[in-house]
Amino acid sequence: MKTDIRDRDDIVFLVDAFYQIVKKDPTIGYLFTEVALVNWEKHLPIMYDFWDNILFHTGNFEGNPMVKHRMLDQKSTLTETHFRHWTKLWKTTVDDFFEGEKANEIKVRAENISKLMMNKVVI
Ligand code: HEM
Repeated sequence: MKTDIRDRDDIVFLVDAFYQIVKKDPTIGYLFTEVALVNWEKHLPIMYDFWDNILFHTGNFEGNPMVKHRMLDQKSTLTETHFRHWTKLWKTTVDDFFEGEKANEIKVRAENISKLMMNKVVI
């Protein structure tokens, strides 16, 4: 039986699972591993805070995602395909492990942010 996303531990689990898939993904993996050369020990806790704040209003995220993604786009062009694919992977990862109100919310929020980001970043 799947549960809903209940707390930060569940977010940590989800985010870790998502980036394991992302790293190996043929469509967007290279942007993380070859273009941005992501420092995962730094990036993952930022992502835990980001989603913890969105789902549970913890107020502990202090990043600037729009600027980060615009910088990434300057290094290697981001396309609508990349954003759509990111969103698809996020939704399937959520569905693989969780179900419920918060699980739905985290998918809807990701989709909305992804569209917004795409409009700000992709020309
Ligand atoms: C084409 C799709 C995407 C790609 C390739 C991508 C890639 C990246 C990379 C490389 C970073 C920087 C990591 C670092 O600092 O080293 C980053 C940061 C981040 N991304 Fe994405 N991303 C994508 C879409 C999204 C979406 C749709 C969201 C939100 C729903 C998101 C949320 C974030 C956040 C919150 C950060 C941290 C920003 C900060 O440190 O201030 N990303 N992303």
